[in-house]
Amino acid sequence: MLSWEMLVARVGDSHRGSDRVHGLRCCLSFVSIRVHRWRQTNVFFPSRPGSISRDDRYLMLGHKITPDLELRLLQLADAKTLFGVVEANRAYLREWLAWVDGTKKLRDAEKFISAGLREYATAQAFSSGIWSAGRFVGVIGHNRIDWGNRMANPGWWLIPEAQGRGIMTQCCKVVFAHAFNQLQLARICVGVATGNLHGQTFVKKLGFTQISTLRNAERLNGRSVDHFIYSLTADPSLPASPLR
Ligand SMILES: CC(C)(COP(=O)(O)OP(=O)(O)OC[C@H]1O[C@@H](n2cnc3c(N)ncnc32)[C@H](O)[C@@H]1OP(=O)(O)O)[C@@H](O)C(=O)NCCC(=O)NCCS
Repeated sequence: MLSWEMLVARVGDSHRGSDRVHGLRCCLSFVSIRVHRWRQTNVFFPSRPGSISRDDRYLMLGHKITPDLELRLLQLADAKTLFGVVEANRAYLREWLAWVDGTKKLRDAEKFISAGLREYATAQAFSSGIWSAGRFVGVIGHNRIDWGNRMANPGWWLIPEAQGRGIMTQCCKVVFAHAFNQLQLARICVGVATGNLHGQTFVKKLGFTQISTLRNAERLNGRSVDHFIYSLTADPSLPASPLR
């Protein structure tokens, strides 16, 4: 592979006058490709503690949790895969995920990913695909980041075949560590339908505390459902109560 030093030497040896400008451009594009690759293969953007704002775009791009388990920001190229997985697991997913019925064609998956990328660009949210052994098995991300109150509302789902193996537990731990350490958020809040017993056991195992119940929180499959609201705080000394 062409190294930075070899590239500089090559530019110095062979370029004169306007060729030098061309050479400099080559160097710059080489650097930008390296930075881009670094960002893709490393967990997070570089950290600047204490200076986080919603414009800092400190959002997760991709992370290899284990050699076999990877999170990657959903891209338009993933729309077909995402839609295929939703189609194949529609009956299961629609029980607790309201968006499933609205995802009827490939275009809907494309729209979801495009909207997600726009929100990612403005640091309001992100959606990462979960790949287990190279296979797309679910999604995790923050549906909303409230920078004013330093709070995030995550969401997640896994196809049934990938469940019961601790995959989502590992993904949640990575996303929450990122929220508290990189984004420096103070609280993560999630609403789980009162009938979703597996979802409730899952969040409690992750250390969430139930703080309230929201009546008629969501329309799901034509009916109105209540949510238990759970909170996880960065600082265990903070009360697990709603923000003041
Ligand atoms: C919520 C959901 C993601 C949980 O999936 P899951 O497979 O139970 O979660 P994990 O992958 O972390 O697996 C945990 C389970 O695997 C087991 N497990 C096996 N190896 C494990 C490991 N190394 N670490 C942790 N758990 C492990 C655990 O015992 C646990 O099983 P249990 O619940 O019977 O005790 C899944 O049920 C889902 O997608 N539901 C539908 C969508 C939904 O409800 N989303 C949330 C809306 S708020």
